[in-house]
Amino acid sequence: MEKREKLYEGKAKVLYKTDSDNLLVAYFKDDTTAFDGAKKEVLEDKGVINCAISTVIFEYLEKHGIKTHFVERLSPREMLVKKCEIIPVEVVVRNVAAGSFSRRYGVPEGTPLKEPLVEYFYKNDELHDPMVCPNHVYLFGWATREELGQMTKIALEVNELLKKFFDEIDIQLVDFKLEFGRCNGEIILADEITPDSCRLWDKSSGEVLDKDRFRKDMGKVVESYKEVYRRIMDRYEKV
Ligand code: C5P
Repeated sequence: MEKREKLYEGKAKVLYKTDSDNLLVAYFKDDTTAFDGAKKEVLEDKGVINCAISTVIFEYLEKHGIKTHFVERLSPREMLVKKCEIIPVEVVVRNVAAGSFSRRYGVPEGTPLKEPLVEYFYKNDELHDPMVCPNHVYLFGWATREELGQMTKIALEVNELLKKFFDEIDIQLVDFKLEFGRCNGEIILADEITPDSCRLWDKSSGEVLDKDRFRKDMGKVVESYKEVYRRIMDRYEKV
């Protein structure tokens, strides 16, 4: 496999073409953004840690029957992925109130939700990723009813798997965001699963181990991501 020219550059990753029509290289940058790119910093090593964490998580999900775009980790910052057509709908699953849910509905951060909640957002920085309901998704043609149904089902399955995955390393999975793509007529999980895209709280102390440390200027961002990775490796390296 040969890496070719840049196809697309996002806020945290660059996608490169390869000599195969079906495969891309995803390069994880150190760039860290929040508030639709309004806040931006380069955090040394973040890309390496996120590539490593996302690799372990995609492998874990694949092992448990979830289809993803992940093929293999090529280098510290690079992952080989299946080329897919990204659906512009971010699927958020929440177990505990936090972030935009707490602000929108006036529910204090940390309040457990009585069942997992799935929310949909239109992936569009200029519009600040507005929350949408399924009818918007169908009306705008972003996904069919069947596709959104599959995305929702997979998102809830991923939630059950990841709740257990993190619980084993004393971390509470508060919420996370998934992106999906179409690949050979199938819906597969795409993008990344990292502390940039999840809220992860230490179960004992409540310490925040995710991107909220960056959003809220709490410091020790990469150190916290490294702590998540250290716990993952201690528990899952030999599995
Ligand atoms: O901001 P909000 O509370 O809606 O975020 C819910 C979850 O989705 C958080 O874990 C956040 O990190 C993630 N998210 C993301 N990318 C976005 C919006 C939210 O990874 N564009």
